[in-house]
Amino acid sequence: MKEQILSFLPPEYPWKDRLFVFPELDSTNNRLKVLASQGAPHGTVLIADRQTGGRGRMGRSFLSPPGVGIYMSILLRPECAPQELMHLTCAVAAAMCRAVECAAGLRPGIKWTNDLVYDRRKLCGILTELSIEAETRTVDYVVAGIGVNCNQTAFAPEIADVAASICMETGRPVDRSLLANAMLRQMLALARELQSGRAAWLAEFAAHCITIGQPVQIIRGDTVREAFAEGIDGEAALLVRYPDGTREAVNSGEVSVRGLYGYVT
Ligand code: BTN
Repeated sequence: MKEQILSFLPPEYPWKDRLFVFPELDSTNNRLKVLASQGAPHGTVLIADRQTGGRGRMGRSFLSPPGVGIYMSILLRPECAPQELMHLTCAVAAAMCRAVECAAGLRPGIKWTNDLVYDRRKLCGILTELSIEAETRTVDYVVAGIGVNCNQTAFAPEIADVAASICMETGRPVDRSLLANAMLRQMLALARELQSGRAAWLAEFAAHCITIGQPVQIIRGDTVREAFAEGIDGEAALLVRYPDGTREAVNSGEVSVRGLYGYVT
């Protein structure tokens, strides 16, 4: 797979010597965080054919069977304060929509904040993790982990209502090397334009975001409140209006958002 991915990359792709493909890892994010703490450079990418401990947000697991998905983590070392990266997960989601559309001809939506969906079911999850320099309080590194359901033809009954693969949606298998290649190109564009293109990333995210304009449930621990999603702000927070007319900007770190009638809507 590595040779195929490399052969599709343009000569100017600068991170070719930082791409590592494994048959199996517990979690590409876990392994990359270890390498990052040992000094791995900006642009290091790990891909595993299978993960035995794939992780999602909020302590959830991410099923990562062999041969049918892409499990990829990318290390970035932006020189900035953590507050300047509030839009990072949104930018990654927008970049991954571009990659899926380019490689598979399918235009996914985004369930705020980090799930790519099609026809209300999840195609891709994103887990971004940040490490901060203790002394300077600036960003040491970011690991962006992306899991894409590519060629599954069915899911276990417990998740069949909420999970989908690109193959199930288009009716044909997607070439995983081609998709991985598109993901790398888009991540390179993102790394180069993360700060300068902030407004454009947020606009692209909003254009894909299917949560906006929908009734939602805002879940904080055991508390669930119904609200209406009106938009996102410049920090990528979801702007919601409650039935009593009050408004709030909710942050992805503190709440989970669910559609009123199920996973998405
Ligand atoms: C989510 O759905 O909440 C996020 C899922 C993120 C899964 C990817 S797969 C590659 C990387 N390694 C992990 O352990 N998680 C991310």
